[in-house]
Order: sequence, then structure tokens, then C-alpha cells
Amino acid sequence: MPSAGKAAHTEVIAEESANDRTYKYMSGFGNHFASESVSGALPVGQNSPQRAPLGLYAEQLSGTAFTAPRHENLRSWLYRISPSVLHSKFKPLANTRVEGRPFNHAVAITPDQMRWNPLPTLEKETDFIEGWVTIAGNGDTASVRGSAVHLYSANRSMKDKFFYNADGELLIVPRKGAIEFATEFGIMSVKPGEICVIPRGIKFAVHLLEGTADGYILENYGPALRLIELGPIGSNGLANPRDFLTPVAAFEDLKGEIELVAKYQGNLFTAKLTHSPLSVVAWHGNYCPYKYDLSRFNAINTVSFDHPDPSIFTVLTSPSEIPGTANVDFVIFPPRWMVAEHTFRPPYYHRNCMSEYMGLIYGVYDAKEEGFVPGGGSLHNQMSAHGPDQATFDKASNAELKPQFMNNTLAFMFESSLVYRPTEFAIAGGLLQKDYIECWSGLERNFNNPEA
Ligand SMILES: [Fe+2]
Repeated sequence: MPSAGKAAHTEVIAEESANDRTYKYMSGFGNHFASESVSGALPVGQNSPQRAPLGLYAEQLSGTAFTAPRHENLRSWLYRISPSVLHSKFKPLANTRVEGRPFNHAVAITPDQMRWNPLPTLEKETDFIEGWVTIAGNGDTASVRGSAVHLYSANRSMKDKFFYNADGELLIVPRKGAIEFATEFGIMSVKPGEICVIPRGIKFAVHLLEGTADGYILENYGPALRLIELGPIGSNGLANPRDFLTPVAAFEDLKGEIELVAKYQGNLFTAKLTHSPLSVVAWHGNYCPYKYDLSRFNAINTVSFDHPDPSIFTVLTSPSEIPGTANVDFVIFPPRWMVAEHTFRPPYYHRNCMSEYMGLIYGVYDAKEEGFVPGGGSLHNQMSAHGPDQATFDKASNAELKPQFMNNTLAFMFESSLVYRPTEFAIAGGLLQKDYIECWSGLERNFNNPEA
């Protein structure tokens, strides 16, 4: 288990405890952090001395091209006991449920609205990697563009096994069960209601802090997730930078038979190591994992009439080359006050040029009273019509419009400018609700034409 040591020269901002373990974090989004778990492990004034301190190996990990503009540039320097090149050759790892770009395989794609039930309870022992299943994706290998939607479920921790994803960064949305991410940069605990992001290439292991865990994963092939512009909102609100937490350095000096699994061009590969890849004693830079408590999101909403567009609930965005058009957005619908007058309060009926995958962490989503359940999901692709089901429409059309606090709800959306192609598992894996469209079938003609 990695040790954070005395964190000698690290400014610790937040601490939390779980299972007799204390997790320490630094605060801020996109900061240039410096953290060492043993005093003197970070070189001073340079990155790559002739001999790195304490006999460590210096290694740079880049998240953008070296020449990316300064405000886009992401990289970190790691000072590690063993360099990352020490591994055996990779071999393909047989798997049937993880898929990657390009998502142009044999599954037919239709304009139909889709909705899925949650994954069933696991029957055999399964870790985070083994329980990973791809639902949909977009983008292709020709460009740094696109994203994928996955689900995970696990009932055991990864043991002597580590993982990295070369294909994109991972935004993990726990639905059930707190989990610990032991990463090259330090250790985070993440529970339902929180999210974490592990940038492309960073190695980690997932340990369960409760008996079972499941949730959602957004895999982003595009530019790194970032905070959105606030425009007329001003300089505060929505997700505030200081609420993002990055772990302090912690290292694991472990030898033995260790497995490293890599996701590379959509497939999994396995290699052998004789050391833990979490042997980073110190690091500095701005390319690092982070977590965020969604209850810190300062929701902004209407205080007069009509429903604002859901972009007002964006937590993080990956931009595309088209101004204002996301490669993929991460959007939440948190507990909040509804006060709008003389208006239809739930989400309006709509057809969007963007494609929307939605999931539910807990509670009830305000456009669907039934059928959209925690752990399940829905997909409304480009121009596919959707909106409140019949029961919600009837209730909202007749509701007394007094101020109402929407409690017990936390839904989210992965919204992309590219159409999500469902995988074969999504279509034929037994979770698809084949009668989803029936939720709108009761919407009656109410047109009362005074000229008739
Ligand atoms: Fe929508």
C-alpha cells in the first residue's frame, strides 16, 4: 500500500478518512503542484539533474504536445524508484466487453431513443477492470476526438494489478460503493456523489472501501477536461476551482509478480512487472489526477420563468475544434430550488444536434418518474426527440408553482457533438428496455382549436 510519508514539502489542504486511512489532498483546478513524500526527493531548480535525488529516476509524463500553448500545456515530472520502461512485452488480454474507437463495427445504429436497466449483481469475483463494459462510443482513430461511455462493477479490489489507459482520460462517476484510487501521483478515496478524473496514461489500482462498487465511466479521447467559461455569470459559480482536490505524493516500494494492464486502441493488453508502478516518491507539474465533490457545485438556475438550457449545469468540458461545441461535456442535475413562475418546470421537449447519454446516481430525475433508475442509463442521439414522460407532463402541467426544493436527485449527462454508437452489449446484452418509447405513448392531443 502506498505511503504518503510525512509529506514534507507539500501543502495539504484537505484531509479525509476512510477504513482507518487518511487521504491528503492539495486544492485547485489545473494548478502546478509540487509534492514529495520523502524530504529532498524533488530536485530544486531543475527537472533532470545528472543524478536525481535519493537515487530516484526522473521521468516526464506529457498530456499535451510539448509545443502546446502555455495555457493548454499539461505535463508532470515524476521521481520514481523504478522507471516505467521496466516491464515485459505486452500480450493481448482476452476480453469481450471493453471496446474502443473506432465505433464503426457491425452494430446497426438507428435514431431510436434508448434506455437501459442497471447491470445485474455480480455472480463471481470481479475487479474494476474485469467488470468494465462499454455501452457506447464515438470518434475514431484518425483524430484526438470522441468519447466512450462505460459501466463498471466490482466486488473485489485489484490485487498486484495496475492499469493505465493510453486511449483517453477517465472520468469516473461512482453510483454505489466508495472506492480508493491508488495512483502514481497519490491516493484518492471517491464515494458516490463525488467524481474523479484520471488523465491518459496514469497508472492506478482500484481498491474497494465497501463490499461492492458500481458506476459509470466517461472516457474522453479529446482535449483534457477543463472548467467551462462562465460568461455573464461572472468569476464565481458552477464548479469552483478550489474544490478540485489532487492527492499528495505517496509511493509503494513493492517487489513481486505484478500485472500491468493497458488499454490501447480499444483493446486490453497485459505485461508483467517485478515492481509496483506506484513507486513515485515525488512529483511536480499540472498533469495529475483529481477528485471533486458534486455537492460543491454552485447550481445557477432561473429565478423568473422558463427552463434554461442544461449547459448551465456543466461541471467539466472537453472542447472541440468548433467554438462553443464540446467534444464532450459532463453535466449534472443536482438538488436545487425550483422557483420559476407560470412555466413548465421539468426539462422541455427537445431535439438536439448534440447527443446525450444520461445516468442516475441516486433519486429520481425530474423528467422521468419511472424506468430511469440509478445505475441505468439513457441515450438520446442527435435529433432524436425526447422529453418528459406522460405522467411527468400531466403532473407538471397542473402543479402549483410554489417554491420547491428538489431533493434526493443526482442525475448526470455525458453530452457530445458526435453521435454515440451503442455496442453489441448495449443492444443485445439484456439491459435494453425495448418498450422505452412507450413512456411517451400516452401523450394525448390537447389541441383546442378555437377556429374549428
Ligand atoms: Fe435531452
